[in-house]
Amino acid sequence: MSNFTKNPDGGLPVVIPFDAALGAEISNISLSNPLSEDQFQVVEKAFVEHKVLVFRNQPLTDDQHLAFAARFGPLEGHINTPTRHKRLPDVQVFSNVKEDGSTTGYHPELGTYVWHTDKSYVAEPSLTTVLRSPAIASLGGDTLFANTQAAYEDLDPETRNKIAGLKAEHSWKRSREKVGEKPATLEQIAAAPPVQHPIVRTHPITGKKGIYVGSHASHIPSLEYDAGVKLLQQLEVHATKEKYIYRHKWQVNDVLMWDNRSTMHCVTPYDAAKEKRTVHRVVVKGDRPF
Ligand code: OGA
Ligand code: MN
Repeated sequence: MSNFTKNPDGGLPVVIPFDAALGAEISNISLSNPLSEDQFQVVEKAFVEHKVLVFRNQPLTDDQHLAFAARFGPLEGHINTPTRHKRLPDVQVFSNVKEDGSTTGYHPELGTYVWHTDKSYVAEPSLTTVLRSPAIASLGGDTLFANTQAAYEDLDPETRNKIAGLKAEHSWKRSREKVGEKPATLEQIAAAPPVQHPIVRTHPITGKKGIYVGSHASHIPSLEYDAGVKLLQQLEVHATKEKYIYRHKWQVNDVLMWDNRSTMHCVTPYDAAKEKRTVHRVVVKGDRPF
């Protein structure tokens, strides 16, 4: 199977954990060819353990990007059809660059500026999101990731007891309103009616518990509305403290993937009039949180 091993020494991918609460770089691998089973196993294990994986210097086509992501499960397009790739509906393009090369002047998706976990507004939220970066901002536009399992482990027993068994309602409509994005369309609301998920999510592979909140979480139906909103906010503030974060500073042609079951993420501001920032994203469908 020599055509599978395009990595320099032909050996297995190398996992280099970051000096942070989560994340690792995977080197000695090329994602442009199908991974061998052995290579895939190293990546898959590192993915669950480190939660965020960074592959540097991977100039992929959209088709190669799709093929790599598809190794992790069935793909799914995004509810927000305007950002879909014209030819490949499972690729979404977040970009402030127009066809003529000038900038639009605004960040393409305000929902990514706030802490969230992808597609938590559907019954079976994304397992992983695989992003690549054809164009990056020179200042800002970093992506921050929080380890929500580490944050859960540090909660005091009282708070753990308080949130055990509680569910939050997650809503695409409400999260659009919160960030001031274009309102959800009637079609989108029909496609993604509000859904309830546990605030403490158990990882199906490791059994570890993590805090599962973020901007799509609107309120807690079993609590008085404002009290529930406040509790969600407190949990988010706790889970996104500096000590739980990895900050990704993008380079052109990074490929980055994360486990939406055990992390939250957001983008830091950049000058969307001056800087050009484009990411292509492919999302793998996940399971119902429990
Ligand atoms: C996403 C997202 C982060 C980024 O693709 O889900 O939140 O860095 N994007 O653009
Ligand atoms: Mn996201």
